Amino acid sequence: MSNETLQAVKGMNDILPDEAELWLWFEEEVRDWLHSYGYRNIRMPLVEPTALFRRAIGEVTDIVEKEMYSFEDALNGDHLTLRPEGTASCARAALQHNLLYNAPQRLYYSGPMFRHERPQKGRYRQFHQFGVEALGFAGPDIDAEQILMCARLWRRFGLRDVALQLNTLGDSASRHRHRAKLISYFEQHRDMLDADATRRLHSNPLRILDSKNPAMQELVAAAPRLADELEDDALRHFDEVQAMLKRHDVAFEINPHLVRGLDYYNRTVFEWVTTRLGAQGTICAGGRYDGLVEQVGGKPTPATGFAMGVERLLALLLEDGMALPRAEVDVYVVHQGELASRLASRVAEQLRDDRLRVLLHCGGGSFKSQMKKADASGAAVAVVIGDDEAQANEVSVKPMQGGEQVRVSVQNLTATVNQII
Ligand code: HAM
Repeated sequence: MSNETLQAVKGMNDILPDEAELWLWFEEEVRDWLHSYGYRNIRMPLVEPTALFRRAIGEVTDIVEKEMYSFEDALNGDHLTLRPEGTASCARAALQHNLLYNAPQRLYYSGPMFRHERPQKGRYRQFHQFGVEALGFAGPDIDAEQILMCARLWRRFGLRDVALQLNTLGDSASRHRHRAKLISYFEQHRDMLDADATRRLHSNPLRILDSKNPAMQELVAAAPRLADELEDDALRHFDEVQAMLKRHDVAFEINPHLVRGLDYYNRTVFEWVTTRLGAQGTICAGGRYDGLVEQVGGKPTPATGFAMGVERLLALLLEDGMALPRAEVDVYVVHQGELASRLASRVAEQLRDDRLRVLLHCGGGSFKSQMKKADASGAAVAVVIGDDEAQANEVSVKPMQGGEQVRVSVQNLTATVNQII
């Protein structure tokens, strides 16, 4: 057997303890924010039938065509996929468990997503999202609320330089008309299409508008515009979303080229973008997907949602100079001698009963070396126990930020510690 050192899979990251504390803090903040808008947590499996994503995200999307981790279950031949996103699973779960038809649902989930993309800063093969889905809501008020929610979160984090891009994709009838016009337009200019565009011409002409190929920009710019096909209802919906944002002073830019990389969207789509993360500047994105529930087998159910990229948001927060938070312990227990050690572990348990965070020194060593560890631990208080103290069923309490060391009975320990911290 080779004993070459094994490494994590490319594009999949370990999150080490210092950084993990930042993640814990972030997740708590986000959960608190979500609960303040009445969203409730839902947890779906990481693995789903491949058919779910093919149907929901669309056959001719980058995700489904080339980024999914799909495999055959070796035991029964099922076609399975590591989830590349959460909206499809969330709709599937809500439908499967009958959450949809009695009352609308505000749901959120978080966790890893998997896409076989080219790894680079801000783009990983395993990355994390917080996803937010409102199922059963048709009006523009929820679209606006979700955007306002995001704006609140950016304020809470003190994020500067995030801009909102907004577009409407209309409804299926207008999209069909637009699609037909696009196909005939691009067919007339077939000689100017690159290989990608040629391949997409009949399957997903809308995606040609997303082309980054400089040679095609002129062609794309002059293509038939969806905006010219939109129905009154969709336009009114979009106007109302904009009006609500304006009333709340949320600035936005209408970007008619914003089409998103997943096929389930209609009407409002949006992306929050920063210029500070290079090419991977989208920290949060989403929109309305009124057709998705039907697409996965349910009755028509209007819905809207978004997801944010946790790695990208944390990178932004760190760039803004956020200090890494540190999980703190309240008490470090130092002890030497047989009797003292026994009392030390009893005292540590007692303090934990009283909800304090306690590091009990393990591994022996002199008082001096133990005190150094107490100092490095960041604990506010050191509890020092020698056999002398132990015999009297007492301990010494030393405030680590300076102040008198006092000797107290074990019984009075918690009160003394609480006074110091
Ligand atoms: P998405 O735009 O594919 O949408 O992803 C949402 C966010 O996830 C992106 O804006 C980005 O911050 C982050 N993200 C995506 N791919 C990567 C990656 N490879 N590495 C790091 N971060 C990444 C969705 O996933 C939809 N499900 C959003 C949604 C929810 N729409 C409606 N409801």
